[in-house]
Amino acid sequence: MKDPVIYQPDGEATAGEPAGTASSVLKKKASRRAFIKGVIASGAVAGSSAFLFSGCAPDKPAAGSVERLLSLTVNGQVRRVDVLPNETLAMTLRYKLGLTGTKLSCDRGECGACTVVIDGRTVYACSTLTHMVGDRNVRTIEGLEGPNGELHPIQQAFIDELGPQCGFCTPGQIMSTVALLEANPNPSRDEARHALSGNLCRCGAYDHYLNSVMRAAQEA
Ligand code: FES
Ligand code: FES
Repeated sequence: MKDPVIYQPDGEATAGEPAGTASSVLKKKASRRAFIKGVIASGAVAGSSAFLFSGCAPDKPAAGSVERLLSLTVNGQVRRVDVLPNETLAMTLRYKLGLTGTKLSCDRGECGACTVVIDGRTVYACSTLTHMVGDRNVRTIEGLEGPNGELHPIQQAFIDELGPQCGFCTPGQIMSTVALLEANPNPSRDEARHALSGNLCRCGAYDHYLNSVMRAAQEA
């Protein structure tokens, strides 16, 4: 399963109060509300200061806001990028850094089209705030390219097995395969199926993708 880096609402019940009671539900709702208010407030502060001081870069972010100019490590390169407080990694990759190989489909953590690899783990970029990535290395499908533009062996295996049909889900399927084979170079077919279980394919090319993963493992 995927392990997205996302905000986790504080839903824990207090001692002696089981989770799911009315008061714990109210607390959970209050916590979510506080989070949403915080995001909106920080965006408003950042937006208004940009308006008031357009052309001037303030030394420090305004109180209650977050630093917007980030150094993001993507495919081994440090990229400076202006990121809104509530911006997802998928939006940053696609629309700020031009890395459109990371696809956006459901935009709510259900389909896996936006899968990238961070520190060896698959992550849904649509459900990850860019500000939470820190200095970890984000790997996208573009980062698999060889020094002379050649395909990565996993990409070649997917082509050889005619894995993709429309191809929209393919970058996510490949990034999940990258993470799998780095952790387990000789997976069983069931292990491969489990590793790609967070990647949906509207074309239903699941068997072709599994064949591709097994071929990539054999040829690695
Ligand atoms: S676009 Fe991210 S999981 Fe569907
Ligand atoms: S190949 Fe079309 S959605 Fe998977």
